[in-house]
Amino acid sequence: MTTVPATTQPGLPYAHGPISRAVIERLGDRAPDNHLEPVWVALRDADPLGLDLQLALYVCYELHYRGFAGVDQNWEWNAGLLHLRSQFERLFLTAVRREVGDIGPHDTAEREMARLSVEPADGTGPSYHLRDEGTWTQMREYFVHRSLYHLKEGDPHAWLIPRLSGQAKASFVAVEFDEYGAGSGARVHQRLFGDLMSAAGLDDSYLGYLDAVPAEALALVNLMSMFGLHRRLRGAATGHFAATEITSPPGSQRMVTALQRLGAPEACVRFYREHVEADAVHEQVVRHDVVGDLVSREPELDTDVVFGIRAFGALEDRLAAHLMTSWQAGRSSLRRPLAA
Ligand SMILES: [Fe+2]
Ligand SMILES: [Fe+2]
Repeated sequence: MTTVPATTQPGLPYAHGPISRAVIERLGDRAPDNHLEPVWVALRDADPLGLDLQLALYVCYELHYRGFAGVDQNWEWNAGLLHLRSQFERLFLTAVRREVGDIGPHDTAEREMARLSVEPADGTGPSYHLRDEGTWTQMREYFVHRSLYHLKEGDPHAWLIPRLSGQAKASFVAVEFDEYGAGSGARVHQRLFGDLMSAAGLDDSYLGYLDAVPAEALALVNLMSMFGLHRRLRGAATGHFAATEITSPPGSQRMVTALQRLGAPEACVRFYREHVEADAVHEQVVRHDVVGDLVSREPELDTDVVFGIRAFGALEDRLAAHLMTSWQAGRSSLRRPLAA
């Protein structure tokens, strides 16, 4: 008999400032169900990319995924909380647009995807560092940063399905089908990442490290949730999805090389090896049949696709800079360093 991991709800995280405290404390109450009650927080001095706001936004979005143990499920669609979340989103989106900068009239999705495919053999980010000289401790920290996304891999982009049509929808779902194990529960990528975490001696529970990761790691997942949950941002969500798939094969190959160099358990190598192979196919499908079809159908979304691709890169760069700065200074990149 194979044991099926129980689907348990995560607990609420600890607050990290007045914004996240206001949200987390409010969620301890029952959601008001017959009157509109605003949830107020002063946001004038808020850092949109800082830990306090990113954590508050993460908690708001999580109500749409698995929710939290002991939290009234009616908060998911509570208008008072959604109003507050929309203020977080406005600040966050403005900050991301600032990071991305102007998008010129000649910057098309097609060009942007072609640019993404050309990666230097000798880059400077964490996957290059891990490939060439990173330690097993740094590798385990890397898994922890990525665990927030990979343990819900596929889900943030799945909001796109009803927002696409025709060939773009068909091809998008074909790629997502693979992310969800192509019909096999044991091969769902979320599950493969859980196996990786266990094999590395880490907690494989969903959001097990929500209290350990920095703002940069939270922002990556918040970006996907924001793009996915807003129909008006469907072009950006599609661009983000394309960037994820196109950059995956070379990045995953570096991870395979790194893990083999470190003599890592097979389950750790397997997750990335699966992505080297599957995403080489996904990349082509996404490029032509998802993005290509979407922009031919709705040309006005082309710039939004470029924005989604660049937003992915900008926030990935922020996490990469945080990891490399921490490691070069001999520090842990986590808020709570892992036990050896
Ligand atoms: Fe995957
Ligand atoms: Fe993929």
